Amino acid sequence: MSGQAVTARSNVNVALVKYWGKRDTALNLPASGSISLTLDGLYIDATVAFGASGTDRFEIDGEPAAGEERERMASFLDLVRVRAGRADAVTVRTTSHVPRGVGLASSAAAFAALALAGSRAAGLALDATALSALARRGSGSACRSIFGGFVEWRRGELADGSDSVAEPLLAPDAWDVRVVVAVTSTAPKSVSSRVGMARAAASPLYPAWVAGADADLAEARAAIRARDLGALGEIAEHSALEMHAIGLAARPPLLYWRGATVECVHRVWQLRAEGVPGWVTIDAGPQVKVLCAPADVPRIAEALAAVPGVERVLACVPGQGAEVIG
Ligand code: PMV
Repeated sequence: MSGQAVTARSNVNVALVKYWGKRDTALNLPASGSISLTLDGLYIDATVAFGASGTDRFEIDGEPAAGEERERMASFLDLVRVRAGRADAVTVRTTSHVPRGVGLASSAAAFAALALAGSRAAGLALDATALSALARRGSGSACRSIFGGFVEWRRGELADGSDSVAEPLLAPDAWDVRVVVAVTSTAPKSVSSRVGMARAAASPLYPAWVAGADADLAEARAAIRARDLGALGEIAEHSALEMHAIGLAARPPLLYWRGATVECVHRVWQLRAEGVPGWVTIDAGPQVKVLCAPADVPRIAEALAAVPGVERVLACVPGQGAEVIG
């Protein structure tokens, strides 16, 4: 790579109040706000250098980027180039420490890391809010991965999206919770979140989802402020199940779950009834994520690992926001 190469690392985040639907598809402006937790240990490193001769080069996990993944990366680096007033070629390399495209928020980590590494490599010194707005253009949920811990992405009101940015609610070390992830399939998802959101918007249940968003956000904010895991778990589970209910009612219908997904949900509910509290959330894929207290991780992880179809189980602690590592 020629030019000053910059490497940034970003963790994934899991939404507890979901982003599901856009008010502007070009700018990735959400129909409603969302609240997430950044997770340690599932991350992407992005290295960007401008000033290379010839054409742009994009590499993902040691392979030349192809298809839609390449297009999204290229359009994103174009945004950085325009912002920095540069016209030179760029070389980009990403390394994933999280399975890609399976509903584990790899695109959130990728675009947060690309926003930080790309802007620095281009000579821009963006503050965290500006980085959040930039990352949002790559993937909506990426705007939240700029920050660590509990994070809220404000819907914003402005048509240009400048007020649709994330902000931290609680630092990663301020509340010790866990998210246990049950991976039920690493096959690529059949419906991207972009297409899923477009379908959802035509669902008869969608207006109710948008109408209830502010109340869900207020409930989650209050639960985080009070460090009330039961209250947060309840609203997180509700938000996830409502998001998936919208898809079921859409035409054509949308269902990201596999059999093992449903079994994991029932297992978590059974444990809860037995006095081991955990609350499920599910994104645009078949994986099940369980919010719980640190002491309950062993029981929950063991129970999920025993569900037929579960490939592996991970336990994540709250993670830091995106950072430059080289
Ligand atoms: O940021 P996108 O376009 O990958 O959409 C993310 C959608 C969900 O993960 C399902 C919900 C969320 O808020 O992260």
